[in-house]
Amino acid sequence: LFAQNCEFVWAADKIDGLPPMGPLEIAFAGRSNVGKSSLLNALTTRKTLARTSHTPGRTQQLNFFDLGPEPAAPLLRLVDMPGYGYAAVSKEKIANWTRLMKDFLRGRATLARVFVLIDGRHGVKDVDHEMLTALDQAALSYQVVLTKRDEVKKSLVDKTLDDARRALSKHPAAHPDVIFLSSHSGESVEDLRAAVVRLMSE
Ligand code: GTP
Ligand code: MG
Repeated sequence: LFAQNCEFVWAADKIDGLPPMGPLEIAFAGRSNVGKSSLLNALTTRKTLARTSHTPGRTQQLNFFDLGPEPAAPLLRLVDMPGYGYAAVSKEKIANWTRLMKDFLRGRATLARVFVLIDGRHGVKDVDHEMLTALDQAALSYQVVLTKRDEVKKSLVDKTLDDARRALSKHPAAHPDVIFLSSHSGESVEDLRAAVVRLMSE
């Protein structure tokens, strides 16, 4: 699936500017700078499909990418979203994105799952809990993915996973499996691909 052709198809900065519903969608949410756009590139093995940056606040719209044998027949749509929490842009902009994201998540029938990215070095923060609570209430399928595994000492990987699972016990709707991966080293990215493939056959 992920070796298929993948291309950018749409950007939306307003809820009435979304693309018409088409293939099954998966979306990537998470704090600014957690590595959403980098993960999209790692998943599809395209280095520069989604723009990434050291500066939080890089992605400022909902960006839609279609995967499939040909553009006319997409199998899966990936949605890169702006970050929540801190970003080097105005509070007003962040409030707008957050509203757009929540409206999108609430009202999108083709959205199969939201992957909520959390920085493995920092763990689950208050803003993450807020997002997870919003997802609990939206009755959406969502799963947590810890990022930047290459930055975490091997001896701390299990503890990081345990801590995240414990924090998730507050969120009954969270998928029980937590994936801890690195877009840079590629470690465990295959686990996420497998989760997506399973999801598509459900
Ligand atoms: P916004 O669009 O601003 O919300 O950020 P984002 O979540 O899309 O993050 P992005 O992919 O732009 O990455 C942010 C920074 O984290 C960049 O400097 C990336 O190189 C770095 N980064 C992303 N993934 C990894 C990873 O697996 N390991 C390490 N060490 N750094 C990573
Ligand atoms: Mg981004």
